[in-house]
Amino acid sequence: VRQCVESMTITAQREKVNIITLKVKRYNPETGVQPWLQTYTIPTHPGMTILDALMTVKESLDRSLSLRYSCRMGICGSCGMRINGVERLACQTQISELKGDVVRVEPLRYLTVIRDLITNLTPFFDKHREVRPYMIRKDEEEQEHPAKEYLQTEGEMERYIQFASCILCGLCFSSCPTVAIDLFYLGPHALAQAYRYNSDSRDQGEKSRLQVVDAAHGVWRCHTAGSCSMVCPKGVDPALAIILLKKKM
Ligand code: SF4
Ligand code: FES
Repeated sequence: VRQCVESMTITAQREKVNIITLKVKRYNPETGVQPWLQTYTIPTHPGMTILDALMTVKESLDRSLSLRYSCRMGICGSCGMRINGVERLACQTQISELKGDVVRVEPLRYLTVIRDLITNLTPFFDKHREVRPYMIRKDEEEQEHPAKEYLQTEGEMERYIQFASCILCGLCFSSCPTVAIDLFYLGPHALAQAYRYNSDSRDQGEKSRLQVVDAAHGVWRCHTAGSCSMVCPKGVDPALAIILLKKKM
């Protein structure tokens, strides 16, 4: 198979079909070897995404390359990585939309690398859990055994619906300059979810969430750089959620 890809690349060069050079950050903490950039050259085809390119490498050139993915359609949030220095979903990034024929691919920042492009997302999910991202009712019996539907008007739904699109991909977290200097900072994803549930007319947990948010590593650490909102692949605007949380408080 390796020979096949190599011969496809040579044919592509000869026939002037586009080829791409991927520079992928590799690291295996078990070996003790420092992270390095490994170069792979492969032919591309129309519609090819960075995830397709990485899978071509993995299937045909280097099986040791490690990455995380699942849905291949921008839903599961597991293929987040830095592509040419910007946080993106690999499955949603077409090679044709990138400038040049050399693409640098790196893991998300501020998370421990397990191997190559796979990071340990546990601290990210822990922060999410801290803001109690679920419906809370004052009556515990009602919380555990709801007996009726809680209807909403369109207007009530509009208050939170854009923030409900979060797929927990981690792109905003990796792009955030506050996370860069404070690893205990809750982060844009968690704060956006605090706002999402606080704004839901069916929820009664605002008080307990605000206690978490109004803390040393909470909402006041944000300097409104807005990079979180720039990179979010689902159109969530965490910077806006943080501003609205601050305003409420
Ligand atoms: S807010 Fe956007 S970028 Fe951040 S985790 Fe959710 S979907 Fe990903
Ligand atoms: S593989 Fe699921 S979002 Fe990319």
